[in-house]
Amino acid sequence: MNMKQKLKWGVIGLSAIFMTACGVESGSDAGTSSDSKALTIGTDAAYAPFESLEGEKIVGFDVDMLDAVMKEAGLKYKMKNTGWEPLFIALKNKEVDAGISAITINDDRKKTYDFSSPYFESINMILTKEGSSIKSAKDLQGKKVSVQNGTTGQEALEKMFGKSGNIKKFENNTLAIQALLNGEVEAVVADNAVVQEYAKNNPDKKLVAINDPENFESEFYGIIFPKDGEHQDEVNKALKKIIENGKYAEIYKKWFGEEPNVDALKQ
Ligand code: ARG
Repeated sequence: MNMKQKLKWGVIGLSAIFMTACGVESGSDAGTSSDSKALTIGTDAAYAPFESLEGEKIVGFDVDMLDAVMKEAGLKYKMKNTGWEPLFIALKNKEVDAGISAITINDDRKKTYDFSSPYFESINMILTKEGSSIKSAKDLQGKKVSVQNGTTGQEALEKMFGKSGNIKKFENNTLAIQALLNGEVEAVVADNAVVQEYAKNNPDKKLVAINDPENFESEFYGIIFPKDGEHQDEVNKALKKIIENGKYAEIYKKWFGEEPNVDALKQ
């Protein structure tokens, strides 16, 4: 493109503008690091509507939002479907530059990783079969419940019931839901949007999503970085920008069919 531009200007013989165009071009290359290598962003693409696979392609709210952020920041990137626990290991080893995977910002993770500012509010919910006696978190006592290993869903259950053998941990959320469908467990605990989307998209499975804000806490997702990574500031600035200019709301509406409450993110 650089070359094409040079040729174009050269052909029309506007040598003064030719010089300016070259100057602008190299200047912007230097400024936006568009020549530098693309960042690798890890994810666990089994968590619709945030990230899931459509054929080979990773799609979802996180994917669209990340794309808007990276475009705004002028950063090149590629996504890598690392899986959930391997993502954290890859971050520690700096094998990925960042991660986006509906990851809740919490104090424990903040000891090891850095986070962007919050981009989504979430809460754990219970997924169970229609007609189940489970109506709230306290009804999970003594029941077999599945979670994705190493998630805040697991943490919330362990806080309520201790590290009991009744909590069945799976490598990804799809397997945790499968355990409910198989009758291996009586409920799944996972993030509200994921649980609701699954129940809605699979009416034949006759599932219900139960919200219990008295027993589950509100959480916020952030883009995750290795500790002391170099791109947080640019990413935060870009995130703020897309929230202010309406791009975030546009993406949110595409995936959730309603306006976001962006005020909840300003804290
Ligand atoms: N928000 C929860 C957590 O951070 C669950 C996220 C799971 N994400 C995923 N892509 N499987 O623990």
